[in-house]
Amino acid sequence: MKIHANVWKNRSVLITGHTGFKGGWLTSWLHHLGANIHGYSLEPPTQLNLFDVAKIAKLLTSETRADLADLEQLKSTIQQSRPEIIFHLAAQPLVRESYRNPLGTLTSNILGTAHVLEAARTSDSIRAIIIVTTDKVYQNREHYHAYRETDALGGHDPYSASKAAAELVTASYRESFFNEESDHPIRVATVRAGNVIGGGDWAVDRLVPDCLRAFKAKKPVRLRFPHAIRPWQHVLEPLAGYLQLAEHLLSATGNQFARAWNFGPDAKGDATVSQVAEMLAQRWGDNAHIELEAIHTPLHETHLLKLDSTLAYTDLGWKPRWSLEKALEQVVIWHKAWHQDADMARITLSQISAYQEASLSLTPAAQP
Ligand SMILES: NC(=O)c1ccc[n+]([C@@H]2O[C@H](COP(=O)([O-])OP(=O)(O)OC[C@H]3O[C@@H](n4cnc5c(N)ncnc54)[C@H](O)[C@@H]3O)[C@@H](O)[C@H]2O)c1
Repeated sequence: MKIHANVWKNRSVLITGHTGFKGGWLTSWLHHLGANIHGYSLEPPTQLNLFDVAKIAKLLTSETRADLADLEQLKSTIQQSRPEIIFHLAAQPLVRESYRNPLGTLTSNILGTAHVLEAARTSDSIRAIIIVTTDKVYQNREHYHAYRETDALGGHDPYSASKAAAELVTASYRESFFNEESDHPIRVATVRAGNVIGGGDWAVDRLVPDCLRAFKAKKPVRLRFPHAIRPWQHVLEPLAGYLQLAEHLLSATGNQFARAWNFGPDAKGDATVSQVAEMLAQRWGDNAHIELEAIHTPLHETHLLKLDSTLAYTDLGWKPRWSLEKALEQVVIWHKAWHQDADMARITLSQISAYQEASLSLTPAAQP
């Protein structure tokens, strides 16, 4: 598994959602690789957030605080920053919030994706786009087999439906406007990762941040769906996949990679909500504990969700590197360091460096 530093050195990259959790980690990593990063997002999604805590603003060449709904602003940002590649992460990313605000979720996630693609269509700088969707795009049949990229799309809750629709919109733009015969072939891929964990996530209604808040307040954690199985992975795992995929899209044979990709954990990363909460409590120490009484909620969430990432293994040479235990250990180290007022830009970068050194060969290579 390789990331080529020279591919990224001085390359102009646009990240939507750079004020968010995954966007912050991606900005930090790409800055470390020498890219010129432009951000387009709303404000950070939570009061405490990775963007401020890890001083992500310092790593940006430019940033625009605006809504994806503003197509003219998006076009103008792209015209000015002239990115060669877009990582589209901006979205309303929470299932439960999508029940509270279905129209806002559909607008951000479907129309927002269409606006990114449309703005790219009118630019002459862009060569590749990675649209981040989710493992929840699959029509969930609650069966034990892991979903492959060719399985049917679906979506029970508004969030899942919005991301499945973003997949369809992307496929339509790829076929209609960005194919190899068009004047402006852009290689567009979608990426579907699992439940991502890592330092610097303070979202509500997500297991790890909910647990960390409760541990700190010395309160027991009550779980909504303790027996639900999810594919858990450290945030650096899918981001490594996105970077490798981007390098392939930018290469001479990039059109072969313009499709959907799963980047899930291996089978050992599939664990129940209660298992992950218990493992996290153990690592946190300080008498942290979990109350194993399910909270009754009328809102539907899937119980069983696994991803098959064979395609990324075979065609990209990507594979998961950090076990669930290691991922949780890194989360605890990050948050304990934050509680001790450490320099969180440095801690974030040190985790990226550790991941890269242990798992990836970082090869200086000629640009593809
Ligand atoms: N965190 C996970 O476990 C996970 C799993 C699978 C997929 N994803 C996907 O990864 C992406 C990033 O997720 P995250 O966890 O970092 O989310 P996050 O909430 O931390 O960040 C979301 C980002 O999107 C921006 N944003 C939201 N709505 C916007 C709008 N209408 N216009 C402009 N910017 C807007 C926010 O300002 C923020 O920068 C999302 O597309 C999400 O669906 C996340």
